[in-house]
Amino acid sequence: MLSALTPDVVPDSVQRPARGIVVRKATMQDIPGLLALINGYAAKGIMLARTEFELSEAMRDFMVAYDGDTLVGCGALHFYSPTMGEIRSLAVAASHKTHGIGRLIVDALVSEAKHYGLDAVFAFTYVPGFFGKLQFHEVERGELPLKAWKDCLRCPKFQSCDEIAVVRVLRPERWEQRTEVPPVIGIDDGLVVLLPTVKR
Ligand SMILES: CC(C)(COP(=O)(O)OP(=O)(O)OC[C@H]1O[C@@H](n2cnc3c(N)ncnc32)[C@H](O)[C@@H]1OP(=O)(O)O)[C@@H](O)C(=O)NCCC(=O)NCCS
Repeated sequence: MLSALTPDVVPDSVQRPARGIVVRKATMQDIPGLLALINGYAAKGIMLARTEFELSEAMRDFMVAYDGDTLVGCGALHFYSPTMGEIRSLAVAASHKTHGIGRLIVDALVSEAKHYGLDAVFAFTYVPGFFGKLQFHEVERGELPLKAWKDCLRCPKFQSCDEIAVVRVLRPERWEQRTEVPPVIGIDDGLVVLLPTVKR
């Protein structure tokens, strides 16, 4: 159980026998199911599409949710700095929505973020109401690390971004003392970072 985790335990398997749903770290064998789930939503413009290569590279970021032998949900925690990580590629199969599976996945990713000592996790989303239920609050995009924007370059909505940035603070004492964030437009590691145009 998540509540039994201690800081030196990696949350690689979370079981909820009451619901029959198992949330655990992903393995390479989960890739076909992940591609089907994520790219199904991507085809509807709800998520960013992922390739087999990208998923292989990022497999250690992923948690998966299973109902028996069926992959019914996923989510990933991607590190951007020693203090911040992004929750991304979050999806629950349409057949299994609103049964608490999204919450289970985010809980597992947040536990992992705490294990790694992050100050906060963030997400870009079209469903701020869902994240609001899970202790996230809306923030200005400029408060997030510039590196977080690199994925935007290949997003079909680059010229008209309507995603909302949300943050969940994990270590309030450190979050409040953070130094001033960089300007929204800037240079990161010597590369000019182009930012998406926000839809008004
Ligand atoms: C968003 C998504 C992951 C939510 O998963 P889910 O399993 O249906 O959500 P849960 O059942 O765990 O819901 C947890 C809480 O959020 C609420 N919630 C769920 N979806 C919501 C939405 N779209 N808007 C507002 N609240 C929502 C639930 O009512 C529940 O509230 P409660 O605890 O008061 O009962 C799922 O709808 C999904 O995969 N959507 C398509 C892909 C997507 O948009 N991914 C997010 C990318 S950032």
